[in-house]
Amino acid sequence: MSPRHDGAMPDDTRSRSARHSDADRLVRRMQAHEATIFGEMSALAARLGAVNLGQGFPDTDGPAVIAEAAIAAIREGRGNQYPPAHGLPELRQHIARHQQRFYDLTPDWRTEVCVATGASEAIVATVLALVESGQEVVMFDPYFDLYPAAVSLAGARRRCVPLTGPDLRPDLDTLARTVTDKTAMIIVNSPHNPSGVVFTEAELLRIAEIATAHDVIVLADEAYEHLWFDGHPHVPIATLPGMWERTVTIGSAGKSFSFTGWKVGWATGPADLIAAVRVVRQHLSYVSSGPFQWAIAEALQLADAYFAEFRHALAMQRDHLADALGGLGFRVIPTQGTYFTTTDVTAVGFADGQQFCDWAPLHAGVVAIPHTALSDHPDHAGPYVRWAFCKDPATIDTAVQRLSRGLADR
Ligand SMILES: Cc1ncc(COP(=O)(O)O)c(C=O)c1O
Repeated sequence: MSPRHDGAMPDDTRSRSARHSDADRLVRRMQAHEATIFGEMSALAARLGAVNLGQGFPDTDGPAVIAEAAIAAIREGRGNQYPPAHGLPELRQHIARHQQRFYDLTPDWRTEVCVATGASEAIVATVLALVESGQEVVMFDPYFDLYPAAVSLAGARRRCVPLTGPDLRPDLDTLARTVTDKTAMIIVNSPHNPSGVVFTEAELLRIAEIATAHDVIVLADEAYEHLWFDGHPHVPIATLPGMWERTVTIGSAGKSFSFTGWKVGWATGPADLIAAVRVVRQHLSYVSSGPFQWAIAEALQLADAYFAEFRHALAMQRDHLADALGGLGFRVIPTQGTYFTTTDVTAVGFADGQQFCDWAPLHAGVVAIPHTALSDHPDHAGPYVRWAFCKDPATIDTAVQRLSRGLADR
């Protein structure tokens, strides 16, 4: 067992610590975060030639016109040298306009917007800037695995609140009991990875009420803000009464424009919170993605039709995979947003998601992600598996045929 590090929950060391470590010089507070499940499962898929429905990146690049804008920026020498520390002014202006166009929020691009190396850096900078060591950060479980790592980096403690019930809704009574005067921050990720759930306005209002009652900051990870389906619109928590003042909202150009390799993201929020985030962020990557910042400034000006068509195309991919999995006997959780659909694999005779995800690469040639790898609550997360549907139809068909054969032979 690796030694218990100061910042994490005891069961952090659950499965991965038992493995051999190549990083035995690693500081204790990061030992539980040595591997990411996405990297491990992608490596496994590559080794076995399995279809990788584990990692969430789209098979199709974003609009050609935006790729051309990046190429033009490089050719014209825009952004080839260090861009301004908090982001290109043109990009910050278009981020601010985007918040106004879609949500009626009016951040001041000069002081209330910060460009980052992907949503990832914006998230880590926000946690490091606003959480003191020893304080608690509350997050919904299962979680995006960067959150626990960021909390450990900050020397803080995470407290996890499960998604519960057959449709995996946030357990807000448990949230109310979990947020205390030790809590510095609640991380709210909606549309939610890995479940594919979009929090309703009523749920967000209750979270807002709890955050306000305890005077805690909310980190709203809205990386999937444009990826919601079937009348489950994304509601930014910062738009709710009294929430702008206490919320740092994170966006991801990678997710919104299907250029996940470009790593352009941002944080918006009130000037006092963003000023703190900027201090930390400038000491992480300092600056990045110069020409891509120019291209994303253009992407943010795409017509509303782009966002609607993008959503529509993804919803078709979602239906394709979800219908096929349902046809194989999996119980499919209603997928309201993101790149991911979740199934309950006990419906096809597996003890839990981990058993299924160990079996599937070897016996069906398909890789998926068990929710338990992203959870402190195996009692809740146990049955569930996440599948990425942001893949071309032929890839999805191959995965489904393989699963069908594998299940029949079992
Ligand atoms: C919920 C969530 N937040 C943030 C990110 C990171 O986004 P980016 O690639 O812009 O760093 C991801 C990427 O998978 C994610 O799923």
